Amino acid sequence: MELKFCDKEIHLQTLDFLVYPVLQNAQGIKSLLKFLHVNEQVLQRFEREEFVGKKGEIFSFELKQTMIIFYGTGCEKKIGLDDFRQLAGFVSRWSQKNHAQNIGIDFSRIIKFGEDKKAYAQVFAEGFYLGAYNFHKYKSKKDIDAKIPNLTLFLANKVKKTWTLFWDRGVLFAQATILARDLVNEPAATMTPSLLAEIALSIAKADKKIKAKILDKEQVHELGMKAFLGVDQGSDEPLKFIHLVYQPQGKTKTKIALVGKGITFDSGGLNIKVGDGMTDMKIDMGGAATVLGVFQVLSSLNIKVEVHGIIAACENMPSGKALRPGDVVQNMQGKTIEIGNTDAEGRVTLADALAYAQKQGVDTVIDLATLTGACVVALGSSYAALYANQENLAKELLKSADFSGEKIWRMPLAPEYKEFNKSHVADVRNIASSRGGGSITAALFLQEFIENNVTWAHLDIAGPVYAEKELNSYTPVGGVGFGVRTLLEWLQGK
Ligand code: BES
Ligand code: MN
Ligand code: ZN
Repeated sequence: MELKFCDKEIHLQTLDFLVYPVLQNAQGIKSLLKFLHVNEQVLQRFEREEFVGKKGEIFSFELKQTMIIFYGTGCEKKIGLDDFRQLAGFVSRWSQKNHAQNIGIDFSRIIKFGEDKKAYAQVFAEGFYLGAYNFHKYKSKKDIDAKIPNLTLFLANKVKKTWTLFWDRGVLFAQATILARDLVNEPAATMTPSLLAEIALSIAKADKKIKAKILDKEQVHELGMKAFLGVDQGSDEPLKFIHLVYQPQGKTKTKIALVGKGITFDSGGLNIKVGDGMTDMKIDMGGAATVLGVFQVLSSLNIKVEVHGIIAACENMPSGKALRPGDVVQNMQGKTIEIGNTDAEGRVTLADALAYAQKQGVDTVIDLATLTGACVVALGSSYAALYANQENLAKELLKSADFSGEKIWRMPLAPEYKEFNKSHVADVRNIASSRGGGSITAALFLQEFIENNVTWAHLDIAGPVYAEKELNSYTPVGGVGFGVRTLLEWLQGK
């Protein structure tokens, strides 16, 4: 893929496609048609089709062997950041489908940007690369060309430098998201705890600022992570505890831990999932995938804070050795957990992962977990639930999500629901006695393991981790890579 800039005359013969983004009811569209010297036939068709630039609306025609495309952005006055991502996604998807190698896009006419111009360069690159994403490795016939086309941007020469800089940033945001998507899409038979660990090791190997430590069952036992061990004990796949550390040059102000739920397959355990419940459960390591995606680009983005990436990776399987309902396990902090249901396994592994994270002396912990079906009931599949024990962190994450186009919605850590997690035999129980609020009670369970002086946020990403149908031009069916761009944006502000 090559990125070119041009602020002179457009030479159509060098392009397969030329795209004009068009604001809804844009003035000047007629004069553009005139400027392009389109023939009477095209003009008549334009009138007939009543193209007004509604979102995703397309009007196309051929001009000197180049396909000209008017793409409606749906926006009235100026284009929003995520509409711009979607425009970019459309351009790369359309090009791929039509095997175009050289495409151009002219912003100079019927489009207006918002205030933060640089951001548009970044999000265009994100949409462009993410729109071209597919997971076809298991198809014998690859129907789509995975090549990313060359792109010429018709823009004033003076913006070239900033556009290039922010474009590169967008490419990194996309690449990190793509890694997370690949990991989620990979079947559980191959995406084992061992493979997750190998990927963590290869990220560290390629980067001087990142160190990886992988603990096996014995070492996990020595550390006293009996909650994590309990969830693992029904599986034949060896568990892995993954600890990545990113250490930037110079002094750092803060230390942050990103903790990802890493259940590579969730059968439910002895409380086995029924019906369709198990079908997509390879996605239960989506939190871990997001953490690894983020780590892949921390260095290139020159992030200024120390970041720890922590994943307790195992499967949740039924067997004669599996954890039973009614069993009691103890996490490495010494807290005991009664297993009310073996399918509420994520929070049990997180009890140890969060404890380990806090032992690293971090001041902020953010965990990402495909934790509850209840969260999907509450917020549907596009929103992640955000829980935070500090206002500022919540605000920052909401702001970063707003930029990244990922949807998160804050939910309460309702203290009056805490008692629902009480156990008669242990310190806490892994399922709540209440009927409703399952995402909240799961978050409150996690909070039991957070020390007083630690700033903590929890993202329940059970809904948005996976797209059952294409969500928009840059988010096809499958793993979404949810959370990667929000976290990168947030880390950049540190
Ligand atoms: N991994 C699931 C949650 C999940 C459900 C993620 C749907 C993505 C889509 C989790 O481990 C689970 O099974 N949770 C149970 C908890 C219950 C037993 C308290 C659930 O939500 O049903
Ligand atoms: Mn489960
Ligand atoms: Zn699970």
